[in-house]
Amino acid sequence: MKMIEQLEQLRIATQLAKQLGRVAFVPTMGNLHDGHLTLMREARKYAQTVICSIFVNPMQFGANEDLNKYPRTLDADIAALESVGVDLLYFPSIDTMYPKPLVDQTKVEVPVISDLYCGASRPGHFVGVATVVAKLFNMVQPDVALFGTKDFQQLAVIRRMVTDLAMPIEIIGVPTVRNADGLAMSSRNQYLTSEQRAIAPMIYAELKQLAETLSQDLSQLEQQSADSQRRLAEAGFEPDYLHVLDMETLLPLTDQSQQGVILIAAKLGAARLIDNIEFTCAPK
Ligand code: PAJ
Repeated sequence: MKMIEQLEQLRIATQLAKQLGRVAFVPTMGNLHDGHLTLMREARKYAQTVICSIFVNPMQFGANEDLNKYPRTLDADIAALESVGVDLLYFPSIDTMYPKPLVDQTKVEVPVISDLYCGASRPGHFVGVATVVAKLFNMVQPDVALFGTKDFQQLAVIRRMVTDLAMPIEIIGVPTVRNADGLAMSSRNQYLTSEQRAIAPMIYAELKQLAETLSQDLSQLEQQSADSQRRLAEAGFEPDYLHVLDMETLLPLTDQSQQGVILIAAKLGAARLIDNIEFTCAPK
């Protein structure tokens, strides 16, 4: 695997790669687990060259968030990427990514959706995500880029950005990879104590139960959503939100909605966990 830190070298390498065929790109913040590696394996199906980036993006972290303690494990990440046959790792420094102070950086803002749900709890987060992904796209110039549906709203923001800015990049969503007990894999699971880790799978258990109910009977939406949140709170979670939405619009369900998605975020100790599940709306 080629490892590149400098933008000039990346440009040379990607120009060569483009002569060989399609280029697939998977942006990450490192501390790679099997969820990330599944994106890399999937990427291989779309392209001759698979490029991964590792960059812990300060612009998407709030002032009181975990930027400083976000796990950085570059050596283990390199070994993992080599094991799945990634061709090139780009790991730009902060100065390469943001040569000027962040306040002077041009920003990409996807309106409305960026301010809802996780965006409401984490102001500025999706501007940070859209800006860094737009920059990475311009640096790597991929034909296709892959993202996990675990970060459902992030994927929606990126799809909108690509459409609105006419970026010639195909965006692929890859289903969430879970631990055997159902907990979605996440770098932030490491913040959990062993007691918290034992109850963390409850998030997905509640999602599954709620999706099952709503695919039979939508009239129970309010009551069942409230019950789920109450059970999570009783178990020790601090529920942030639970929204039942139209999967296409990411807005509340309407009579026209066919596919729904439940988005959930909850704090458990030091970890903020997010998850989601899709379901087919019960006939009205
Ligand atoms: P990060 O959290 O490192 O995730 C990188 C990619 O891996 C994202 O597309 C995410 O959705 C996907 N991913 C994470 N956990 C997953 C799981 N359990 N199953 C499937 N895919 C999973 O998301 C980011 O980084 C950043 O916001 C980034 C897009 C890199 C911009 O900085």
